[in-house]
Amino acid sequence: MPDEHAHSHAAARPAVRALAASLIREVANEGMGDPGVLPFWFGEPDEVTPEFIREAALASLARGETFYTQNFGIPPLRDAIAAYVGALHRPTSAANVAVTASGMSALMLVVEALVAPGDRVVALTPLWPNLTEIPKIMSAQVVCVPLDLAAGQWRLDLDRLLAALTPGTRLAMVNSPNNPTGWTATPAEQQAILDHCRRHGIWLVADDVYERLYYRDDAAAAPSFLDLADPEERVLSVGSFSKSWLMTGWRLGWLVAPSALMPDLGKLIEYSTSCSPAFVQHAGVAALTRGEAAIARTRERYRHARDFLVAALAELPGVEVAPPPGAMYAFFRVEGLTDSLAFCKRLVHEARLGLAPGSAFGPEGEGCIRWCFASGQARLADGVARFAAHLRGGR
Ligand SMILES: Cc1ncc(COP(=O)(O)O)c(C=O)c1O
Repeated sequence: MPDEHAHSHAAARPAVRALAASLIREVANEGMGDPGVLPFWFGEPDEVTPEFIREAALASLARGETFYTQNFGIPPLRDAIAAYVGALHRPTSAANVAVTASGMSALMLVVEALVAPGDRVVALTPLWPNLTEIPKIMSAQVVCVPLDLAAGQWRLDLDRLLAALTPGTRLAMVNSPNNPTGWTATPAEQQAILDHCRRHGIWLVADDVYERLYYRDDAAAAPSFLDLADPEERVLSVGSFSKSWLMTGWRLGWLVAPSALMPDLGKLIEYSTSCSPAFVQHAGVAALTRGEAAIARTRERYRHARDFLVAALAELPGVEVAPPPGAMYAFFRVEGLTDSLAFCKRLVHEARLGLAPGSAFGPEGEGCIRWCFASGQARLADGVARFAAHLRGGR
């Protein structure tokens, strides 16, 4: 049997073969399930979903809600999302809301709906790798615009971004607050990006999944394109239950989209997940309608965790770090670090510590490490002690 031939016959198409596997996973695979390793590699809290949300799912199951639902989600959940988005941003109709089986699924649907092979997609990096890989599934051309790092703080070079958003660009992806850097767009930056995209007919996809993890006292949520854009223009917002309500494993999210796109999104949902599980959607209703106290608590917990971690890391020689304005990660530079992947693998084996390599978020992230601080202080302190000892021992 000619091996080469058999292989190419059983292989995926070239665009899929060319997708990069997640380097976060590559590090995690070195130590996942090992109780001696302290993990901070994924964007996940160290606490379970609040009980009232779990109970809503149990009650739904007890009622026997085990059937398919509408493609766009059960009406009470669409209504609750519309009311929630309306209270935070702008009046929103349930007709412009699609329930999705995770934020990840919402992003995939958007890209399937809008991006054709060869289309130009612009993204700000460092960035969660899923966002730059998804368009490549559709054989898009992904152009990355780097954020700048100054004194530990990540900043947008607006002129550079606008220059990259050339006429004919199909779509711009803006994740703010950003995973991994915590960078958060200002309303003025958003207005400039929106004006530019309007001029050139470029779709704007706002990944707003961290909008409630924003640490300014005077804001309930990070600034959003939804605050500025008209409901019927080419702006889409992706939401998720994962981060705000500690529901990563439930796989529930949503999309806010212009009316003209809704029928086609409905078809794509039918032909991918068809719908989200009914009992998961009922948990979502509970989260949205009774979850504000839980969000406030989580935000305060993460704010303390952020301040504790950043202060502890800043003490270490060669570490350049500043408190991020949003999300749940410290993304910091380590002096002299040139291979963050190899370094993070050594951390797993030698320091028994799980962190994510900066290079997982694009070449601009090399030399940096991402540390998820959605964690209690004692765990963080243990992690910092392991990290410090490793640095002292020479890397
Ligand atoms: C920037 C960003 N967008 C979207 C998601 C998707 O979250 P989920 O698929 O769990 O809703 C994540 C999860 O880590 C993320 O970091």
